[in-house]
Amino acid sequence: MRRTKVLVAMVLTSSLVLIFFYSSLNLQVVHTQRAFTVSVPVIRQNVSSTTRAKQQNMTSSKPQSNVVPITISANFRKAVPQSSAYWNRRQNFLLKQLDARVNITDDERLGWSHCSAASVERLQTNIQDFNSYPALYRDFLLGMECRDPPILIDQPDKCTSEGREGQTYLLFAIKSVPRNFERRQAIRETWGQERVYEGGLRVRTVFLLGTSSTEDPDLGQLLSFEAQHFGDLLQWDFRESFYNLTLKDNAFLHWAMKHCSSAMFIFKGDDDVFTNTQAVLTYLLSLEPEKAKKLYVGHIVSQASPFRDAKNKYYVPQTFYEGAYPPYAGGGGFLFSGSLLQPLFRLSQFIPFFPIDDVYTGMCFQALGITPEAHKGFQTFDIREQDRENACAHRDLILVHQRSPQQTLRLWRGMHSHLLTC
Ligand SMILES: *[C@@H]1O[C@H](CO)[C@@H](O)[C@H](O)[C@H]1NC(C)=O
Ligand SMILES: *[C@@H]1O[C@H](CO)[C@@H](O)[C@H](O)[C@H]1NC(C)=O
Repeated sequence: MRRTKVLVAMVLTSSLVLIFFYSSLNLQVVHTQRAFTVSVPVIRQNVSSTTRAKQQNMTSSKPQSNVVPITISANFRKAVPQSSAYWNRRQNFLLKQLDARVNITDDERLGWSHCSAASVERLQTNIQDFNSYPALYRDFLLGMECRDPPILIDQPDKCTSEGREGQTYLLFAIKSVPRNFERRQAIRETWGQERVYEGGLRVRTVFLLGTSSTEDPDLGQLLSFEAQHFGDLLQWDFRESFYNLTLKDNAFLHWAMKHCSSAMFIFKGDDDVFTNTQAVLTYLLSLEPEKAKKLYVGHIVSQASPFRDAKNKYYVPQTFYEGAYPPYAGGGGFLFSGSLLQPLFRLSQFIPFFPIDDVYTGMCFQALGITPEAHKGFQTFDIREQDRENACAHRDLILVHQRSPQQTLRLWRGMHSHLLTC
């Protein structure tokens, strides 16, 4: 009797969930199955599977968590100073829109077809010293409202190819560029290998690419071959550049929300880091279910502020952004929960793009109300020089930056050698 009631309640909430989805932001929801999954008890012997089942139940038994309206945390609102800087003004405008519950239709939503909205003239009118911005910065501003770039190489079945049994526990999403084949191959042969680890933990990998500049040789055919052969490339139609990394991040969020939302955890990182996959899995399995749902962990940069020197790679003009940065996880590599993909993406529609991708990610998490957690296993600034080729020194680490493809192979083989005694 109680069972039937529970079932009826579930069906009802599920229907509500669906109705809400289709009437709200027009977001495509592919993985509604999470909302419908009646949790089946998983009987397995080892500890890792039970932990995993507990972590999974946390996400599958609460369909409501998928439909919370977009709310932006008070912390974030407080952190955005009222200022005449361009980004601040855009942010305050979007917050007002959100608060007024203005419906953003698909047509009005920031999208690729609206890129022309940011004309040079408009920017010159709004930013008095726009013409003295570095050329790449002006390019960034011209593309700042452009989202959802067309996808050129897709892997829509990446996470669903093997049904329920194939559920992704950890998805590696690695920022790469077309010419970095050697780095991708080293990752495929080592820490990014797609396989099932002990306890049935399935690891999958995608590489995130834009297009190379027209000054570079055309690698298109080679990429198509690589994508077909390995099935792990995602490429969007935008030019690779440092200031376009936020766009890449956002395109990935959208893709993962549509095609890999059942992944328990996402690792976002660069193609020149070395990751100790087993240490990552051990750490993830140790998490309490509550924590596993709201994870954002890495090497945390806190109390940082914009660099105002135009020659610095991370230069941010005063007339573009005012204020400090929220605490954020260094973009070399960090982990977050798959259940946050959708909230993050929806909320990002109300946060203007920022030219530094990991700062932007920090902003989105702050707006979501999640504080990043520091973990000393993430060594984005590398370890002592004398330990860099030492497999033992890497055993308890999660990530080090940076390693060449050759060093990556040597380290991986060393760490997995039966002859290794530490
Ligand atoms: C927004 O959309 C909903 C449902 O489509 C509608 O009921 C509501 O009146 C709209 N609000 C505004 C401010 O247009
Ligand atoms: C980002 O990509 C778009 C689309 O290819 C391009 O127009 C823009 O100039 C790029 N931005 C930067 C900063 O390179």
